[in-house]
Amino acid sequence: MRTLILYYSRTGHTRRVAELLAEQLAATPAEMTCRAYSPGLGALRQPFDVLLGLSPPIEVPELATQDWDLVIIGGPVWGARPAPPLRSYLRRCAASHRQMAIFVTCNGTSRRYPPERAIAEMTALAPTRPVASHIFTEAHISGPDLAAQAAMFQQELGVTS
Ligand SMILES: Cc1cc2nc3c(=O)[nH]c(=O)nc-3n(C[C@H](O)[C@H](O)[C@H](O)COP(=O)(O)O)c2cc1C
Repeated sequence: MRTLILYYSRTGHTRRVAELLAEQLAATPAEMTCRAYSPGLGALRQPFDVLLGLSPPIEVPELATQDWDLVIIGGPVWGARPAPPLRSYLRRCAASHRQMAIFVTCNGTSRRYPPERAIAEMTALAPTRPVASHIFTEAHISGPDLAAQAAMFQQELGVTS
């Protein structure tokens, strides 16, 4: 099964998860970027996009335009919503994917800003219903549970490596 893991990561947590999943699923990782959030003016734009639910321009790797059996899209939760670059991708670029799955990384400790809301928004934006979703908290990412969490997601996906 040809699987692409396409992710956005600002501070490296999602990258870490994506790289582990890529190993575990024998998948290809690829990173999308958002120059609009570069240091300086980008730092001002970012909270507005989060609050208003806007979709900034993104740079998508060429790999994402290829034909994949499964595309897994991941990124951070910001303000209980998907980071805006994820919204941009799902709104503008995901229509051609045959099968999709999603994951988010998050702090996961605030009842006011639950990651489940971000998963629900990504699910609603996805052109085809995601076959699986998973939440990786910072505690998972920096603790001993990361491989077990990745294995749980793998089981949900039904992908054998
Ligand atoms: C601006 C901002 C908003 C955040 N909002 C939330 C939130 O609403 N809920 C949550 O659980 N974590 C939240 N976090 C924590 C991030 O989702 C978490 O650190 C994530 O793993 C970062 O991923 P990255 O390192 O790939 O960028 C927020 C972090 C930032 C910088």
